[in-house]
Amino acid sequence: MESFFICGGNKLEGELSIQTSKNAVLPILAGCILCEGEIVIHKFPKYDDTLTMLKIVEELGAKTYIHDDDVVIKCDSIQKSEIPSNLASKIRSSIFSLGAILSRFKKAKVPYPGGCAIGARPIDLHIKGLEQLGAKIVDKHGFLYCDGSNMKSAVVSLDFPSVGATENIMLASIFLTGKTKIINCAKEPEIVDLANFLNSLGAKIYNAGDSVIEIEGVQSLHGGEYTPISDRIVTGTYMLATVICGGNVTLNNVCYDHIASLVHKIKNNCCKVSIKGDKLTVIANKRPKAISKIETQPYPGFPTDLQPQIMSMLSIAKGTSVIVENLFESRFKHVSMLKKLGADILVNDKTAIIKGVPMLYGANVTCCDLRGGAGLVLAGLVAKGYTTVDDIHHIDRGYYRMEKDLQALGANIERITKV
Ligand code: EPZ
Repeated sequence: MESFFICGGNKLEGELSIQTSKNAVLPILAGCILCEGEIVIHKFPKYDDTLTMLKIVEELGAKTYIHDDDVVIKCDSIQKSEIPSNLASKIRSSIFSLGAILSRFKKAKVPYPGGCAIGARPIDLHIKGLEQLGAKIVDKHGFLYCDGSNMKSAVVSLDFPSVGATENIMLASIFLTGKTKIINCAKEPEIVDLANFLNSLGAKIYNAGDSVIEIEGVQSLHGGEYTPISDRIVTGTYMLATVICGGNVTLNNVCYDHIASLVHKIKNNCCKVSIKGDKLTVIANKRPKAISKIETQPYPGFPTDLQPQIMSMLSIAKGTSVIVENLFESRFKHVSMLKKLGADILVNDKTAIIKGVPMLYGANVTCCDLRGGAGLVLAGLVAKGYTTVDDIHHIDRGYYRMEKDLQALGANIERITKV
């Protein structure tokens, strides 16, 4: 089992380039299933999740190879419409491939997806959306058997702006003659990036990023190349690491708009933030102040994927803060571990009350999910003494060698293997 071994107390100084977005690349890889010819994805991020999704595309028949920072995907050899459960059960994004497979083959057999244990994570919105397009879906023994032979363009209305369901329905509509509308869809930057990728290959998708997306069916998608957006959650994680440790850090390859909701929360009361082009600098030289209330919301609201990380920062802030987690019903699993480090946090249903303490103290903690694990690392960076963070395979799903990035900024953190 791999762990991080951290000696807390170092300030963070220096410059770092942000990796490509995990949650942009995952649906883009599913989008490759629709294409003919060859796709080159530049700056391909080698997170565990993106490598698993690449294996799923290979499992369907694509030939792929990684060349430096690029991945090349030859799509003509894709000929299977079924995904094995050993791969699909590892990641949430395996369900995104359903819409793409239906578009290409008019049939599909996919298992229920995996993903972080942050809630029930149902897929009813995905199924309802695809059924509104005319797909016939039967759920049998943990597999979805789908018949897409009668799918037609339609107006699809989502009960909730689900990121994955929006992506799935978009992928399922690309080749449907006529115009499909998705109402009440998600507006995340990763949705816009998927639409930009597909449009670069010949798709006709309009208004991605708004609450109504329109897709005009086309005959086929050709090959091409694409550079996905940078990861706004990795950006926010390292911004908060700088605030919690103190220091002066510049992050490159940042899109300010994608992280504006975090900047709005921490600028001035916790740190100074400046942006110049794609360079964002955070300067923190005093104990952060509490933030009266943070509510996680769909984009452009405060992202649920930064909730654990800002909770760690608030654990040592001056004053009492409140976090309301509106997106996932089990996304406070990191709280017990933060309390082991000395945090003073009270949880009642979807609300956490964080009473800032002057100091956290090193301890042995365990990750329960990807972003909760990242939050524990941030707490360890500021805790007095030594902290070990176990089960860091959760973190490797969405951060590529996090310890290397933090070492480059002056953190005292090592990856160790515990026997
Ligand atoms: C995506 O998950 C992200 N994952 C998550 O990031 C992120 O937290 C989430 O969007 C919200 O922003 C990827 O993009 C791979 P949703 P997704 O469908 O699509 C409920 C990370 O750390 N819902 O927008 O699964 C659901 O239970 C991960 O990188 C249904 O009820 O999120 C949740 O309460 C964690 N039925 C809410 O909607 C459905 O069919 C939002 O989920 C689908 C979702």
